[in-house]
Amino acid sequence: MTDTHSTGPFIAAIDQGTTSSRCIVFDRDGRIVSVDQKEHEQIFPKPGWVEHNATEIWENVQEVVAGAISKAKITSADVKAIGITNQRETTLLWDKNTGEPVHNAIVWQDTRTDALCRELGRNVGQDRFRRETGLPLASYFAGPKIRWLLDNVEGLRERAEAGEILFGTMDSWVIWNLTGGPNGGVHVTDVTNASRTLLMNLHNLDWDERILSSMEIPAAVLPEIRSSAEVYGTTADGVLAGVPVASALGDQQAALFGQTCFSEGEAKSTYGTGTFLLMNTGDKPVNSYNGLLTTVGYRIGDQKPVYALEGSIAVTGSLVQWMRDQMGLINSAAEIETLASSVEDNGGAYFVPAFSGLFAPYWRDDARGVIAGLTRYVTKAHIARAVLEATAWQTREIVDAMTKDSGVELTALKVDGGMTSNNLLMQTLSDVLDAPVVRPMVAETTCLGAAYAAGLAVGFWPDTDALRANWRRAAEWTPRMDADVRDREYKNWLKAVQRTMGWIEDEE
Ligand SMILES: Nc1ncnc2c1ncn2[C@@H]1O[C@H](COP(=O)(O)OP(=O)(O)OP(=O)(O)O)[C@@H](O)[C@H]1O
Ligand SMILES: [Mg+2]
Repeated sequence: MTDTHSTGPFIAAIDQGTTSSRCIVFDRDGRIVSVDQKEHEQIFPKPGWVEHNATEIWENVQEVVAGAISKAKITSADVKAIGITNQRETTLLWDKNTGEPVHNAIVWQDTRTDALCRELGRNVGQDRFRRETGLPLASYFAGPKIRWLLDNVEGLRERAEAGEILFGTMDSWVIWNLTGGPNGGVHVTDVTNASRTLLMNLHNLDWDERILSSMEIPAAVLPEIRSSAEVYGTTADGVLAGVPVASALGDQQAALFGQTCFSEGEAKSTYGTGTFLLMNTGDKPVNSYNGLLTTVGYRIGDQKPVYALEGSIAVTGSLVQWMRDQMGLINSAAEIETLASSVEDNGGAYFVPAFSGLFAPYWRDDARGVIAGLTRYVTKAHIARAVLEATAWQTREIVDAMTKDSGVELTALKVDGGMTSNNLLMQTLSDVLDAPVVRPMVAETTCLGAAYAAGLAVGFWPDTDALRANWRRAAEWTPRMDADVRDREYKNWLKAVQRTMGWIEDEE
């Protein structure tokens, strides 16, 4: 898809995602010049466990960078900066001297730390560290995953305390390798990624010593916390040797940036493996009383940090993948729409995909998936419909919580991500929210946000106003559902949600 009208210079963005790594080259108008992408293996060693091979991921990153540069028919001289964005919370420890991972990365969806999280809650419970971190104690976050590795990989704690081991989320892993690895690689993370560890204090943006000691994590393993848009170092070799590495943002914060939600009250929802709705709350962290997370939205250089409220849904696109790969009911993700469109409604079936427990607004590690309302009448087409409705209703629950916490009524929802190519889903979403849903021209807002931040850091774009000017509406869906149908369906959905809870019991 090389755009022959684009002339350089360019910004490259690397998106190290949950299912794949991609590299996209953008021009000054924020248009896509070239894309390369490669999937990596999803490793499921036990029920509830999910791992990635970090060496495979780093090889794929190098491959897609080379691929995108070659498709764009450009060289490193045309690229002013590289931006990084990544799947968040996924946790890796590696040997500082060899660059070898000590274990597979533990992926954000992994629930192996649920008992550990309950234990860490002690008599205080899930909110023990919420005031400092903005997060509930849940298996989703990185801190407990570090602790699990230190407890379960033989000899690791001693090596970590001796300063031989580095921790990183995928931003740190990619940046360390890009900038030289064992030969001078920089060990950094940005404020958005750090805000997902349960170890960073949201107010001073530094590692919290009290929490580190409660979780028994040695400070020696931790990267330095930097802003989201600054030059961390220079690419050591490969096709982009010499190019500055100039941004890092967790994928959802990158999408917020790519959707140009730079003002307080602006929000976006990204539909990929999971779904994440983030609202910019300006320069102050807003506490949630309705099951949302308080997190860092972004920080540009030495400017004030911008905070966000987040509603996280663990399973949306991955439920479609599950229908394809585990159930074999469809051959491609797009077929879910064809199958679902062959019937008028869900036939009474509701699918709550609590595969990794329930995230927002419930935060229940003990929940597991349920299909409710089954009768002899239900066909695979009804289930396909229930799969799409699950994404819509989960969004509705988040939007309700967001309205309560922020006091801001949703007037329209900006969406992006792979699932937004599904028209039936977007219409259903607008129906259940009773609000318009709008998608921008560039639905790859994750990469775009990382490119924007990197471009700001090196002066490729002057300021955020220049970025706003690039946002263009490509599609819009408006509500068509009767209010009484919506109310009835929402009630049924909430009933099905209740049936997922408490499935995992303590002794397991
Ligand atoms: N037409 C479609 N209808 C429904 N779901 C779809 C459709 N096309 C793609 N998907 C789902 O969207 C997801 C891919 O979207 P996207 O590429 O934005 O994912 P992603 O979240 O960025 O991936 P990663 O987690 O690796 O970053 C997959 O889970 C896929 O099942
Ligand atoms: Mg993604």
